[in-house]
Amino acid sequence: MTKYGSFPGARPRRLRTTPAMRRMVAQTRLHPADLILPAFVREGISSPVEIGAMPGVVQHTRDSLKKAAVEAMEAGVSGIMLFGVPEEDKKDAAGTVGTDPDGILQVALRDVRAEVGDDLIVMSDLCLDEFTDHGHCGVLDAEGRVDNDATLERYAEMAQVQADAGAHVVGPSGMMDGQVGVIRDALDQVGHEDVAILAYTAKYSSAFFGPFREAVGSSLKGDRKTYQQDPANTRESLRELALDLEEGADMVMVKPAGPYLDILARVADAVDVPVAAYQISGEYSMIEAAAERGWIDRDQAIMESLTGIKRAGANMILTYWATEVARRL
Ligand code: PBG
Repeated sequence: MTKYGSFPGARPRRLRTTPAMRRMVAQTRLHPADLILPAFVREGISSPVEIGAMPGVVQHTRDSLKKAAVEAMEAGVSGIMLFGVPEEDKKDAAGTVGTDPDGILQVALRDVRAEVGDDLIVMSDLCLDEFTDHGHCGVLDAEGRVDNDATLERYAEMAQVQADAGAHVVGPSGMMDGQVGVIRDALDQVGHEDVAILAYTAKYSSAFFGPFREAVGSSLKGDRKTYQQDPANTRESLRELALDLEEGADMVMVKPAGPYLDILARVADAVDVPVAAYQISGEYSMIEAAAERGWIDRDQAIMESLTGIKRAGANMILTYWATEVARRL
């Protein structure tokens, strides 16, 4: 009798014969609603400024940001994650404009929220690095080290002004210990119980953040290795995950995505909350640069990179290609 569990009876290639067959048996499908668009808004510019290291991505004006938000929404994208870029001379050691109701990020949150209402989820990066003159994600102590607990007080304030400005979701990305709990308490204290927290749970100190520095005009010299995670570690992510959930994270994120798919898969297996992954600036730029040189097929590489992230377990993917991909799907 022929054995169907092994060759020649078993022929896995049967299920790969045509596009229709492959489509039917596909285990992972991207949907526009999986996607979240990260976007930069810069104070004091009159037209969008291209980001050299991220071809196709711009620093928006307030107006062009509103347009981009509407375009994303109409394409079926679920959310937009906003990053503010203040005027250089407004940065200081405490990142004061990060908590000024008239700071660029708060202004942009109000603009976008007025434009999209509740039909697009408006998210804000909750971190100080765009607003500090030293470029770190927190405030510094007398020795110049990032001061965890003093930073938490700044984050609590930030959460409140961002929520007041209309954020549906805040995304604490600074990797300070205790940040999720402090932010939850701060939001609840002022009646923002409905504002959700997307915790940057596993965030690795990554070279792939490089292009983002240009995108936000970062003032950072040095690195973030005393607060972001060491790329060598897995267990640490599971510990961060346990802490974030205990502190009240509504959703958790792994970042970067591509080089950390193993972490993403472990996190996705371990939780009962939605899991996001952030395909970061360097992941974007690598594909754009290789495609520009004709070394890879751009569109296929984009879809493959996103499919891989979803397959590894992400419900939501932050990607600079969100609107383009949503339209293509
Ligand atoms: C911190 C923050 C960073 C990114 C998102 N939030 C920069 C960093 O941690 O160095 C990076 C996103 C990207 O590279 O696309 N506010």
